[in-house]
Amino acid sequence: MEIKIFNFEPHGDSRGQLIALEENKDIPFDIKRVYYMYDTTPGVARGHHAHKHLEQILICVHGQCKIKLDNGHEIEVVDLNQPNKGLYVANNIWREMFDFSDGAVLMVLASEYYSEDDYIRNYDEFLKFIGGK
Ligand code: TYD
Repeated sequence: MEIKIFNFEPHGDSRGQLIALEENKDIPFDIKRVYYMYDTTPGVARGHHAHKHLEQILICVHGQCKIKLDNGHEIEVVDLNQPNKGLYVANNIWREMFDFSDGAVLMVLASEYYSEDDYIRNYDEFLKFIGGK
């Protein structure tokens, strides 16, 4: 499976680092929504779903976590451990987020507004959905 990781260029100087992300430049889609997870309960995994259309970039802006991506044929696990690293997650990919470090903040940039209709929350349904493509 092709894993697309963006290494964003920080504007660093003696004061520290700053990263700026612009839609359709640094991020390959219109950014319609931003959400983030924090205070994640130790040991929990989140996600466990796919999207029919939504594209996302995941950035662990503080701390670290792991992302499991499953296209129905292959599984890859990506470590998100730097605030300048963005993981692109396309549609039709089953994803799980886990192993959140203490204080981790996982920020997600999304190409669409929130829509429950776009979710596939059952793994067998996901396999059926991509099988029909
Ligand atoms: P959920 O899909 O369970 O999160 P995860 O993918 O991390 O398992 O979402 C948690 C709750 O937040 C659920 O009630 C839906 C709501 N939610 C929104 O209202 N807007 C959003 O953009 C997202 C991602 C979730």
